[in-house]
Amino acid sequence: MSHAKPLGGAGLRGQVAGRTALSTVGREGHGLTYRGYAIEALAEQASFEEVVWLLFEAELPNVEQLDELKLRLRLHRRLPEALKRGLEQIPAQTPPMEAVRTGVSLYGNLVPESGFSTQREAAERLLGALPGIICYWYRYAHRGERIDTESAADGVAEHFLTLLHSTPPSEMHRRALDASLVLYAEHEFNASTFTARVVASTLADLYSCLTAAVGALRGPLHGGANEEAMALIERFDSVEAARIGVAGMLERREKVMGFGHAIYRDSDPRSAVIERWAERLATDPDSHRLLEVSRAIAALMDERKGLFPNADFYHASAYHSLGIPTGLFTPIFVIARAAGWSAHVFEQRADNRIIRPSADYVGSEPREFVPLAQR
Ligand code: COA
Repeated sequence: MSHAKPLGGAGLRGQVAGRTALSTVGREGHGLTYRGYAIEALAEQASFEEVVWLLFEAELPNVEQLDELKLRLRLHRRLPEALKRGLEQIPAQTPPMEAVRTGVSLYGNLVPESGFSTQREAAERLLGALPGIICYWYRYAHRGERIDTESAADGVAEHFLTLLHSTPPSEMHRRALDASLVLYAEHEFNASTFTARVVASTLADLYSCLTAAVGALRGPLHGGANEEAMALIERFDSVEAARIGVAGMLERREKVMGFGHAIYRDSDPRSAVIERWAERLATDPDSHRLLEVSRAIAALMDERKGLFPNADFYHASAYHSLGIPTGLFTPIFVIARAAGWSAHVFEQRADNRIIRPSADYVGSEPREFVPLAQR
């Protein structure tokens, strides 16, 4: 029996599992790029909708193309009545990511991909509807309100904040969430994207791929880390308490969520961008304290473990300043990453072979079957 060690060890680390033209993650000389554009430039200068176009079409849109995409996304904000009734059945105590998983799946039942002439239309439909799916369920479950999921907002970030708060956001809040959506839109073969590609490789419909991807993103080692980071920083009311508390966690060998990365070795380029937004947004004492606590934890993690904050860590204080409830942090990640997931499904479909790796067998040697009566 062969017990050859899998290449790269556990977690398929370091193994090339396919090809993509969508992004580079930690590749020498590239950093994080979407279709060749540096994430820093995109987060600073491009809107989320420009990034959606870039991921789907491989080029940046011109003004007309962008306007048309935004118009189409706006037209998809209205949710089918049956979807709203379905969302109303999901209990309030359901973790929001599980409600989103159901919402995406139910949307696919009511508005199936087979009803569209292009896969891109199916993806755009969901992108337009997702803020409404999340906010409709959340406001109904937690406040008993049936909100109108249409708004006059121009783009996805503004639309989400308008639905959540029933009032349009400030320009700074809109820009902060827009930048966050750009940062979260795509990240090569991470767990949820790889999940989407595996499902796509079986020739399943787009909504099956995305429902599976939501399930993968839900876990605290992946997308759920931004919510865990919030739970961590709000435990401490001072920098001193944070240093003592996190030092204790490290002594107990507990994981500190929002730190470390499977691919990046020195830093996560998204972290500096969202940290700057967290700083700009920290205009009240509560947000300011959370930012200071976050920075103290980051300094300690560097000192003690040489670990750096990943994209999720400063998202916690930034989202808190935007008035976003912690349970919706990862659902917002879904809105953004649905763009990357969809683009990966298109790429997989364009050059498909079913993804079916092999396992290193570590079980019993062949043996004789013993009938039930003789056991
Ligand atoms: N807190 C404490 N220790 C950590 C850590 C963290 N956040 N991340 C990694 N480590 C430790 C590991 O336990 C390991 O220690 P060991 O060698 O003593 O066992 C060492 O650092 C090296 O880990 P590494 O191999 O780099 O991590 P990985 O590739 O197995 O896992 C993550 C990567 C992202 C899953 C991991 O860093 C993690 O769990 N981070 C917290 C969750 C998180 O923020 N996820 C979002 C990712 S964007």
